[in-house]
Amino acid sequence: MPPSGGRSNYNCSSSRGNSARTKSVSICRDSQTQNDADRNRFRMSNRSRTLRMRRDVLELASNFVSLFLVLGSLYKQHKKKQRPMSVTTIAVLVAMEAEAAPLIEHLGLKKQDKSPFVGPLPAVVHTGKVGDTTVHVITNGTAHGFGVDSVGTVPAALTAYQVCEVLKPDLLLNAGTAGGFKAKGGAVGDVYLATAFKNHDRRIQIPDFDVYGVGATDAAPCPNLRAAMGFKDGVVSTGNSLDCPEVDSQNITSNDASVKEMEAAGIAHVATMFGTPFIAVKAITDIVDGDKPSHEEFMENLGAAAKALQAAVPKVITFVAGRKIEDL
Ligand code: ADE
Repeated sequence: MPPSGGRSNYNCSSSRGNSARTKSVSICRDSQTQNDADRNRFRMSNRSRTLRMRRDVLELASNFVSLFLVLGSLYKQHKKKQRPMSVTTIAVLVAMEAEAAPLIEHLGLKKQDKSPFVGPLPAVVHTGKVGDTTVHVITNGTAHGFGVDSVGTVPAALTAYQVCEVLKPDLLLNAGTAGGFKAKGGAVGDVYLATAFKNHDRRIQIPDFDVYGVGATDAAPCPNLRAAMGFKDGVVSTGNSLDCPEVDSQNITSNDASVKEMEAAGIAHVATMFGTPFIAVKAITDIVDGDKPSHEEFMENLGAAAKALQAAVPKVITFVAGRKIEDL
C-alpha cells in the first residue's frame, strides 16, 4: 500500500499480460520501496523539524529569561539610585590622636586591633554603634619614621581613600582643630560646621590649573543639621603649614575662609571621587590674625578644643544617624 498522501503515481492494478504483470509487480514493489523511503524521509524530516523547533523554543525561552534578569537588575539599580539613602555608617576622620581620644571615649568605641585597610597605612580605626548606626572614628596614625601623628593633606587623603573603599561610609565627617580669624568674628573654642573646602597653598598660575589649585568643593548640603546644631558657618581653607605667611594669608582672604586647617580639602578631593557626602566640624584652637604665634596657642588650647569636639561631634552623629542624606 502506498502511503496515504504518498507521492507515487503508479497504478498497481492496471497490469495487462504476464510480462506486463511481472513488470507491473516489479514497478509496484519499486514504488512501494520508494514510498517506504519517502515515508521514512518524511518521518525523519518531521522529527528533525520538531527537534529544531523544540531547540528554537528553548533558546527563545532562555533568551527571555536572560533579558528578564538583566532588566530586573537594571530596574533594581535604578530604584536603588532613586531611593533616598539613609545614614547607617558614618566615618569620622581625625588627624591627631589627641583630638580624637575624648570623642572615642565618649562614644565607647572599640579599637580594631587588625587594620581593615590594605598595605602599610598607619591609620587606626575605632568602631561602635550609636543607636542602629555604625560609627568609625579613624585617626591617621603615626607617621612612619617620624613617630608623630600624620597630619596634613597627604595622610588625610590616603586614609580617606581607604576608608571610602573599605568601610564604605554613607557620610564622611572630618573633625579636628583649626585656626580661626578675628576678622571673621572667630574666637578660641568656637565650633564651625564647614560650608565649603578650599586650598590656600596650591598656587598654580596656569589657566584651569589655578582653579584646580584652589579646588573649591561644597560641603554636603545640611540645612537642618546647621539649624539644629547652631554652630558657626564658614569656608574651611586647607594648607600643609601651621604658620601663615603673607602669601597664604592673601589666599585665605580670597578664599573667604573663616577656618584654617591642614586636612579637609584633601579629604574633600577623595569624597568627590567616591561621591560620598562630606561634612566637617572644626574647633578653634588659635586665632591666626591674633597676637600669639599659632603653634603656641595651638598647644595651649588643644585639650580644650578636643573637649569641644567631644561635645559637638556626638550631637552631629546623633542628628544624622538613620536620617536620609537629603534630610540633613
Ligand atoms: N590646626 C589648628 N590650628 C591651626 C592653624 N592655625 N593652621 C593650621 N592648622 C591648624
